[in-house]
Amino acid sequence: MTMAPRAPVVHLVSVDSTQRVAFALAAQGTPDGTVVIADVQDAGRGRRGRTWMAEPGESLLASIVCRPRLSPAAWPLLSLATAVAVAETLAELGVSPRVKWPNDVLARERKIAGILLESRIESEPVVAVGIGINVHQRAFPPDLGDRATSVWRETGRAPAVPVVLESLVVCFGAWRARLEGEGFTPVRERWRALSATLGAHVSVDGTNGVARDLDDDGALLVEDAGGLKRIVAGEVEHAARR
Ligand code: BTN
Repeated sequence: MTMAPRAPVVHLVSVDSTQRVAFALAAQGTPDGTVVIADVQDAGRGRRGRTWMAEPGESLLASIVCRPRLSPAAWPLLSLATAVAVAETLAELGVSPRVKWPNDVLARERKIAGILLESRIESEPVVAVGIGINVHQRAFPPDLGDRATSVWRETGRAPAVPVVLESLVVCFGAWRARLEGEGFTPVRERWRALSATLGAHVSVDGTNGVARDLDDDGALLVEDAGGLKRIVAGEVEHAARR
């Protein structure tokens, strides 16, 4: 069997955002799967226009260049597959991860990793899969309070960031390949098994109810007094489990 050559890993000491660099490299024709990592970002991007802050060397900050073999309508599923891959990477490090819809990764209900998919359709469609994993943080700023955690805080130890990256690249490649080759069913099953959201009372963009399932297009199904609602985007707050 011939193995596909490994895509390049571009390591930057300091950058504005690895997402920007991923798109710039994609425009220059970098191979699918190219990984951009940085020790620190000064304009790290989070979901919903937020910034993503991390002290130098404390986190894994990576963007993976993807030219998905999926229709654009299926790209949100890649973000759910990424959450599964990040959760499995963390499990290998001794963390007990859960996924929060759509694609946060939690440990003990605290955020340990965030995922941001951004896309561009120019001469060809490109998705930059941005992943931030809290690895070495021993404490977080007061404004994050007890809403964040890290590999170190969960396990009392943490490997070097490149070790975490190695595992992440393997897990991401495997789940991306399953999504592209087998469709959403295996990702959906794994996401359900890892979910902190299903069964929880949630509040999302004016809907309050119990999260019942993940639909076959990645939407969250929330049951409120009026019946089952499909949530396709939004910021979920978890309340008590029912
Ligand atoms: C979130 O808001 O939860 C998503 C955060 C994603 C942060 C990562 S860090 C590496 C990559 N580069 C960025 O600018 N953002 C993503």
